[in-house]
Amino acid sequence: MDKIKVGVIGAGTMGAGIAQVAAQSGHEVYLIDLNNEVLDKAKISHEKIFLRLVEKQKITLQESDNILKKITYSSDYSILKDAGIVIEAIVERLDVKHKVFASLETIVSDDCVLASNTSSLSIASIGSVLKKSSRSLGIHFFNPAPLMALVEVVPGIQTEENIVDQVMTLIKSWSKVPVLVKDTPGFIVNRVARPFYGEALRIYEEGIADFATIDWAMTEIGGFKMGPFTLMDYIGNDVNYAVTETVFTSFYYDPRFKPSFTQKRHAEAGFLGRKSGRGYYDYSDSSKDLKPLVDYQLGETIFMRIFCMLVNEAYDALFMNVASLSDIELAMTKGVNYPKGLFEWSKEIGLRRILSVLEDLFDEYGEDRYRPNPLLKRNVLNKL
Ligand code: NAI
Repeated sequence: MDKIKVGVIGAGTMGAGIAQVAAQSGHEVYLIDLNNEVLDKAKISHEKIFLRLVEKQKITLQESDNILKKITYSSDYSILKDAGIVIEAIVERLDVKHKVFASLETIVSDDCVLASNTSSLSIASIGSVLKKSSRSLGIHFFNPAPLMALVEVVPGIQTEENIVDQVMTLIKSWSKVPVLVKDTPGFIVNRVARPFYGEALRIYEEGIADFATIDWAMTEIGGFKMGPFTLMDYIGNDVNYAVTETVFTSFYYDPRFKPSFTQKRHAEAGFLGRKSGRGYYDYSDSSKDLKPLVDYQLGETIFMRIFCMLVNEAYDALFMNVASLSDIELAMTKGVNYPKGLFEWSKEIGLRRILSVLEDLFDEYGEDRYRPNPLLKRNVLNKL
């Protein structure tokens, strides 16, 4: 797959970023969108990005020109006929993805790999419309694609093994860190990270602490780069809520992933976060900045409750063979920039202590969401 031609469908946030990554890695790229305005916007944005890189002397003007020349912006799918791989990054709707995949197969060659950048849909289902479904898989980039190192590579049950190997090699050649993930809801990152938001919202809803105090606990005591409410305001409450709801329904309403009314109301009110000027915080008026309650004992309780839920989720992903331990560590450090891998971190804090926090929560609330994972329990028992 060395210098195959790369097709990218959808020139929005993700597609434009993926096209940039492939072009910077030396591939000819066909960037397709039905909307010509989106294509123009993607082209202008690429030109600006490379101009900035030239100004910062990261690349020469000649290199910038060469990369830009590699990208063909088009609304005509037929130019994909000699592509070696096509990565689809269009709207997150199964019916639309099915149509695109079925029509793609009538255009591309027999050995062209067909990938989806979906965050939440089943790879097996997306590939099912193909005559040769063994060539389909998920290649899940993170936003912004040019900056985020992690890529989740997700074979469907139909995917041929050598396609997976080829894609892993290709993604490495793009200076990215690929991890191999089972085709399960949320893959690694969007599954394991759920308690970072969900448990923070729950702590707020119980009246234990306000947004600023929970954020303070997670950054000051936990060492996370951003607190959950600041991060949700960055991601957008509409987007973050939708991911939670999809993971919740895809897991057959497992209470561990139950969405929060607080977040739903924020999304419904248009308090989407930074992009709407107001989310959990008000970005229009700095005099309204919320001040945390600096109480280290409370902060430790908040941090431990969220952290233990994250560790429990990481153990569940490992227990259910969603990915290897090392890939789960990579996913959480490279995909959401956690300061440490959750397994390494849990050893430092002490697995026994983590289990006892979870058991106390489970005893007190009697809710399934706090049930300690069997593998975590086994690991504690084995150390007795
Ligand atoms: P977007 O809305 O920014 O871009 C989608 C683009 O696809 C639009 O420009 C639209 O005109 C185009 N499009 C729609 N139907 C098309 C078709 N049949 N043929 C060609 N172009 C078509 O969406 P975004 O955010 O880039 O997401 C794309 C995919 O990537 C989704 O599956 C999403 O779940 C996934 N994803 C999104 C992330 C994010 O943070 N935005 C992160 C990782 C994955």
